[in-house]
Formats: sequence, structure tokens, C-alpha cells
Amino acid sequence: MKKVRFGLIGCGSIGRVHADIIKGLAHAELVAIAGRGDHHREFAEDLSCDFCLDYEDLLNNPEIDAVAICLPSGAHSRAAIQAARAGKHVICEKPIATTLEEGQAMIDAARDKEVELAVIFQHRFDKPIVLLKQAIEEGKLGKLLWGSSKTIWYRDDKYFSNPWRGTWEHDGGGALINQSIHYIDLLIHLFGDVKSLSGKCRTLRHKEIETEDIGVANLEFTSGAIGTIEGTTASYPGLYAELSVFGEKGSVIIRNDQLLFYHFEGGKWQEFEKILDPEKANALNTGPEVDRASHIRQYEDFINAILEKRRPLVTGEEAIKSLEVIKAIYRASDTKKEVYL
Ligand SMILES: NC(=O)c1ccc[n+]([C@@H]2O[C@H](COP(=O)([O-])OP(=O)(O)OC[C@H]3O[C@@H](n4cnc5c(N)ncnc54)[C@H](O)[C@@H]3O)[C@@H](O)[C@H]2O)c1
Repeated sequence: MKKVRFGLIGCGSIGRVHADIIKGLAHAELVAIAGRGDHHREFAEDLSCDFCLDYEDLLNNPEIDAVAICLPSGAHSRAAIQAARAGKHVICEKPIATTLEEGQAMIDAARDKEVELAVIFQHRFDKPIVLLKQAIEEGKLGKLLWGSSKTIWYRDDKYFSNPWRGTWEHDGGGALINQSIHYIDLLIHLFGDVKSLSGKCRTLRHKEIETEDIGVANLEFTSGAIGTIEGTTASYPGLYAELSVFGEKGSVIIRNDQLLFYHFEGGKWQEFEKILDPEKANALNTGPEVDRASHIRQYEDFINAILEKRRPLVTGEEAIKSLEVIKAIYRASDTKKEVYL
């Protein structure tokens, strides 16, 4: 079977995870990395791949089929658009971009050049989420009534000493756009589009950052269900991310990416029984470490999409929805008004 040949742009904390994943996949090859600073050159040597100081050089390499973008969030769109124009498929870290205009320009560029654009939302590939989506589609929960997404984390001063974090220009916002976006994306994945919302954002603990360290919102979905969002990097020492889904015939709670609780009117469900793990779900989530298993599944989906000439599961069109909701929460907080999407 053919391999997809990758270039990697940006090799910071998550870029190094991408490099390891690409190197470990049977149908992928890491051709080159691009990054600033000598440590990137040394990293390329360790990986036995080419090194480019400027990512434009990487994009000009005809040996490369696809690029992985792991730059600070505010730099995603420029690199992704240039990559699409160079005829490369793109897999980009979340959020798709820091503004809706830039996110839409990425989608348009990929469509124009007939390349695939996937955005990393690895939690859509977590086993409990895949099964919960299936349970909802099979009607096990009945009609969905309400759901909540909470990301109750803590990040310390060292985390925010990385100069792009917590800035409007490079991060596009704070705890909502950077941390809480994963579980906000899951709420949208399960409940569908949001019709309207109200919200409040504040910076209450990390006075050194420009953007919010606490954000809350009330939502109404187009389905008629309602939802709540709570997201923070100010809850010491960092507790959990939790998704709760309540339907007419059942309830499910996923905490820290593990199945914490479920109850269906129809009785036990063997698929859920196999993965129910309250102990793991209740362990504190105190740091930014990423479990790679779901990133690997999303890479496999992206590679198969390219080889099978189909769309990846998390397209740009899907990924922009969470950005749209978060930008609407910022607007609602600023204007103190309900925002209609
Ligand atoms: N999916 C997840 O769970 C997850 C986790 C962490 C970060 N992220 C996302 O990944 C992105 C990167 O985050 P990070 O924590 O790795 O940041 P980071 O600051 O650790 O890394 C960013 C890297 O980009 C490099 N860079 C900046 N400008 C460049 C340029 N023009 N050319 C080449 N390299 C350049 C920097 O030198 C740095 O190595 C962000 O968008 C973040 O939201 C996602």
C-alpha cells in the first residue's frame, strides 16, 4: 500500500508528538521538518529527516504529499493556505485558526486546490465518544434534552511564559479557545449546531495574560436542546474535563476522556460495560500532557482519507464550528447580549 509522505511545520510541545506519531505509522513517512532555531536542526538529525529553516522550502518539496501544522494558533491559517496552494493535504492542530475569516479562508483554499484539510480534535476518536455517538444515533438515549461541557483545569505561570499563550494576537483568546475547545467541539459533535448563546468571560487569576482564564456560557441548539459550557485554567490544581449528556431515555457522563457513568432505560449496554472506568475518570487532570492514542487514530483516518480519496472525519467545515461558538461567547460577554449564530 502507498505511503503518505509528510512534512511537519512547528516542532514545539505538540509538534514533537506529531513527529513521533508519523514516524510510527505504517503508511506514513516523515520527509522533512521546518522550524526556527538550532534545536530543530538537531531534532531533524534525530528523526533522520530533512530540515528546512523556512517552511516555504518544505512546501516546495515535491516529495511531500501532506503537511502537519503545529505552529502557534495564530500562525495556522497562513501556513495552511500556503500548503494548500502548493497542492499539499493539510492536518492542522486545533483551533483551526484564531479568527473565523482565517478559518474560512483555509477551508476555501483546500476546496479550490482539491486537497484535504483535517483539524486535530483527537477526542472525537476517544472510545467513549465514538460509542456515545453510536448510542445516540441508535436512539439509546432517546431525544437529547441537555448537555454540558466543563474543562476545569489549571495552568501555571511557567505555561503562560511561552509568549504566544494568553494573547489575543497569537492565541485568539484564552481558556475557551485553547483548552476548553476540545470538549466544546464534542458538545457540538453530539448535539449539532448552536442557535444562540449568552456568556461571560473574565481574567480572575492570571493577571499576566490578556485573555480570559474563566469563561461560562448558556446555549440553545437548533434541535431545541440546551447546553452549558464552563472552561477555565484558573482552578488549582487542575481537576477534570467532563462531558454530560442527558436524553429522555438515558444519561452519560464522560470525565477525563473515560466513561464515568451511564444509565439507559433499556438496561446495560455491553459496549459501555467494557470501558466503564470510574477510577480513571476521577483521577485529577493537572497538566498539559497528551495521551497519544486518539491522535494516532485521527492520523490513521487522515491517511486513509487521502489514500481512499474520501473526506477525513474532522474536516475544516466541522472544525470551524467550535471556533464560531467560542467567538460568539466572547461577543456575548463583551456586549452583555444574547448572540444568534
Ligand atoms: N490537540 C492537542 O491536544 C494540543 C495540545 C497542545 C497544543 N495544541 C495546539 O498545537 C499548536 C502548537 O502548540 P504547542 O503547545 O506545541 O506550542 P509551542 O510554542 O510549544 O510550539 C510551537 C512551535 O512553532 C515554532 N514556530 C513558530 N513560528 C514558526 C515558523 N514560522 N516556522 C516554523 N516553526 C515556527 C516554534 O519555534 C515552536 O517550536 C497550538 O495551536 C495549540 O493549540 C494542541
